[in-house]
Amino acid sequence: MRVLVVFFANSGHTRYVASEIARRCGAEMEEILDARPHAGACEALRYIRDSLIGATPPIEAALKDPADFDLVILGTPVWAWRVASPMRSYVRHNAQRFKQVAFFCTEGGVGDQLVFTEFGHLCGRTPIATYQVIEPYLSEPIQQAPLLEFMARLKTT
Ligand SMILES: Cc1cc2nc3c(=O)[nH]c(=O)nc-3n(C[C@H](O)[C@H](O)[C@H](O)COP(=O)(O)O)c2cc1C
Repeated sequence: MRVLVVFFANSGHTRYVASEIARRCGAEMEEILDARPHAGACEALRYIRDSLIGATPPIEAALKDPADFDLVILGTPVWAWRVASPMRSYVRHNAQRFKQVAFFCTEGGVGDQLVFTEFGHLCGRTPIATYQVIEPYLSEPIQQAPLLEFMARLKTT
């Protein structure tokens, strides 16, 4: 099964989890990049505004075609209980090209289920598995069980 992990990361947590998932299932990776110039001290405010209005900002061109993969695993940080806007742009542009999907998110502690619901609506598909991780516990052994369960569910198809 060809697997692609697609993610956006602002401060690196989601990239860490994406790499861990890709390593464990031998997947290829695609990092989504915001094409807008950096907004300096207003960056976080811009991101919150993006989430409040459901923005789909310009992103850098993707390097891989998700239609070439059997499973696409989408990863995002939670931003104001929503999918990070550059990931929303990517999914909007590519939803028709996904076969099967799975979702993961990193967060401070609230909003994961709303994010998975939004991903589901954007994709028009039900995920085969979902996984959320709270940033303080990223590399803690406590995370092993939910991550192993997520990986096991990916393998069942
Ligand atoms: C603009 C912004 C909004 C956020 N909103 C939430 C939120 O609604 N719920 C939450 O649990 N964490 C929230 N966080 C925390 C991030 O989801 C968390 O730090 C995540 O791990 C960041 O991932 P990254 O390092 O890949 O960017 C927010 C962070 C930022 C920058």
